[in-house]
Amino acid sequence: MAPLDFTGGAVVVTGAGRGIGRAHAHLLAARGASVVVCDPGGDPDGANPSAAPAEQVVKEIVEAGGAAVASTESVATEEGAAAIVRTALDAFGRLDAVINNAGIFRPAPFGETSPQTYQKYLDVHYLGSLLVSRAAWPHLVASGNGRIVNTVSASLLGVPDMIHYGSAKGAVYGLTRNLAVAGHAVGIKVNAVAPGAGTRMVELTGDTLPEGMLEYMMTSMPPELVSPVAAYLAHQSCAVTGEVFNVAGGLVNRMVMVNTPGIVDPELTPETVAERIGEILGTDGAQPVELMLPQTQP
Ligand SMILES: NC(=O)c1ccc[n+]([C@@H]2O[C@H](COP(=O)([O-])OP(=O)(O)OC[C@H]3O[C@@H](n4cnc5c(N)ncnc54)[C@H](O)[C@@H]3O)[C@@H](O)[C@H]2O)c1
Repeated sequence: MAPLDFTGGAVVVTGAGRGIGRAHAHLLAARGASVVVCDPGGDPDGANPSAAPAEQVVKEIVEAGGAAVASTESVATEEGAAAIVRTALDAFGRLDAVINNAGIFRPAPFGETSPQTYQKYLDVHYLGSLLVSRAAWPHLVASGNGRIVNTVSASLLGVPDMIHYGSAKGAVYGLTRNLAVAGHAVGIKVNAVAPGAGTRMVELTGDTLPEGMLEYMMTSMPPELVSPVAAYLAHQSCAVTGEVFNVAGGLVNRMVMVNTPGIVDPELTPETVAERIGEILGTDGAQPVELMLPQTQP
């Protein structure tokens, strides 16, 4: 097939100063997109901001013949999100896709995380994705083929020591599904990737990963193998919406919520539930939960 081309289009990639976001920015720029490289820099938990990572990625893209500008605003405030979108409009006059990739991470046991920590993770992951999408929305509508690509994590399904991070990613999952419904009528498709890639972020997972996994990720799961899926989902030809894809080391599959056939009993009692819990949980014949798009609503 013909290469997926982004010539004439403008894309915001958040958290693009390093890791997976940097790889997204490079791939999209190489395919002709004008890219806003958004990253306030700093440590994995967001401390010590620095303009250097975003500026470095812009330099690399421009030297390779592409078009890019930096934004060092944070996605986590309304003003920051508005400024990131304004940067795209000022520099390129349009906005066609947003890749919400910015993230912070530091695993910690439940007992060692404070309400402030939960708020901080929600601010960057959930509100950051929401606020940038919200600021971009009218411009994505104007584009005619607006695209939003969010970034979740397998941790939303439950892993050790990531309650703050995994539940914030769970909020991004709900955001993805609900924005996809909202975008249906206006031509905006909204999907998400759940990546696995050897970045500084996974180096912090320590012993929460199975033995040997960290080395495998650092050697065999480059961020560049996440970007083809993000690029497809950001392209105007993308045919899906409301989907989440696990993407790691060349693997791509669909992460899907299912309804099991379960049981129906008009005289349901707690004892029935106890006796038939195996049947309720059984996934034979389970059906993916599809989006409730406006025309399918009762
Ligand atoms: N690496 C993995 O295996 C993995 C797994 C699951 C999910 N993720 C997700 O993928 C995304 C990218 O992670 P990564 O592995 O490349 O990590 P990374 O730390 O290398 O990159 C994340 C980038 O986001 C930026 N960022 C942080 N707060 C920001 C803010 N408020 N505004 C804008 N930018 C901000 C950071 O400065 C950093 O450059 C994150 O959302 C992360 O949660 C990664």
